[in-house]
Amino acid sequence: MHSSITMKVTLRAYLLFTATCSSARAFYNPHSPSSPSTFLNMSTTSPSTNLSQAKQLISKAISIGAPAYNAGDINKCATVYQDTAKEITSLGIPSALQSELLAEIDNNETSNDNAKAWALRRIFDSIVDYTLPLTPSPEPTIPSVTLEPFTQTQLPNEPLGVMDNVMGGISRGSWISKANTFFGETSLANNGGFASLRWRFPQKQNWSYAKGIYIKGLRHSKPMEHTFRIILKDDNCERVRLANYKVVFANPDQVQDQPLLIPFTEFDQMEQMGNSLVGSPSFNPMVVTEIGIMAIKPTVVGEFQLEFEEWGLYV
Ligand SMILES: *[C@@H]1O[C@H](CO)[C@@H](O)[C@H](O)[C@H]1NC(C)=O
Ligand SMILES: *[C@@H]1O[C@H](CO)[C@@H](O)[C@H](O)[C@H]1NC(C)=O
Ligand SMILES: *[C@@H]1O[C@H](CO)[C@@H](O)[C@H](O)[C@H]1NC(C)=O
Ligand SMILES: *[C@@H]1O[C@H](CO)[C@@H](O)[C@H](O)[C@H]1NC(C)=O
Repeated sequence: MHSSITMKVTLRAYLLFTATCSSARAFYNPHSPSSPSTFLNMSTTSPSTNLSQAKQLISKAISIGAPAYNAGDINKCATVYQDTAKEITSLGIPSALQSELLAEIDNNETSNDNAKAWALRRIFDSIVDYTLPLTPSPEPTIPSVTLEPFTQTQLPNEPLGVMDNVMGGISRGSWISKANTFFGETSLANNGGFASLRWRFPQKQNWSYAKGIYIKGLRHSKPMEHTFRIILKDDNCERVRLANYKVVFANPDQVQDQPLLIPFTEFDQMEQMGNSLVGSPSFNPMVVTEIGIMAIKPTVVGEFQLEFEEWGLYV
């Protein structure tokens, strides 16, 4: 679901024909007095997710539903999926997926079994694809880390925007440098659905002395629903077109006093347009060429905003 020919062509065209960050209208003004009420809405409850159990139930349902469907018993398939969907809603999965699932369970307009089976299958697939984000720990579990913020000379001031938006895709993302704010809108139109910013280092970075990346004072839109990705590229990625490493992160509890720590060891799977490159090496912190931030479907659909006080390396 993540990749398609269209998106690949779009991205290639984008990279070839434009090198400037796309302009997007300002949905949020981080300095406007009205923004904190919608944006800094503190949440104290964690999502009590049991994602692995949901994934197990889905796998079981598909093992029954798919053969039934292929044998022509579409009603059985739809029934198994519907029953499983109801069972999953009691587990507490991430809220965006939960509301999608509840809506489809109650959607009596999809009255025929075939449409119902496919609608539920699509939601099941997005649950299976969902990765739990790394989140800041509310307590200082690692008191001994040293934070080294990125310096002005290290990180170029203006990132490159990489969107799905040249050949019909309409997702947008912009960066406000002085406020460390990434905002925009992802759209599913034309099979798109992501917006990202990339900082290319003027010089390859040797980060082997550090443990990972930190982000301090992280805040973002729809805390319980939106997740974002941090992107890293090393020398090996430069040899494989559109390859990079990504880690999913979020701040559902809007923890402010502890930084989010993202160890380099989490960047263990090289990918290309959302597909894992099997047998590829792990991220090599000795030769880092690029860092980025991404908002992408299915967790971010529509307007989004992410901001932080500071980021850098932790040692
Ligand atoms: C947070 O959001 C809820 C509903 O989403 C709203 O009722 C509440 O007033 C908000 N709180 C603040 C501090 O804006
Ligand atoms: C999730 O499901 C597993 C397996 O059914 C169970 O052992 C575990 O306690 C559940 N965790 C939560 C947080 O509900
Ligand atoms: C759809 O049908 C179910 C029973 O199959 C019922 O419980 C539900 O209320 C119906 N929803 C709507 C919106 O009519
Ligand atoms: C990177 O730095 C480490 C020491 O921190 C050093 O041992 C290594 O040789 C350096 N690698 C490169 C490619 O410069």
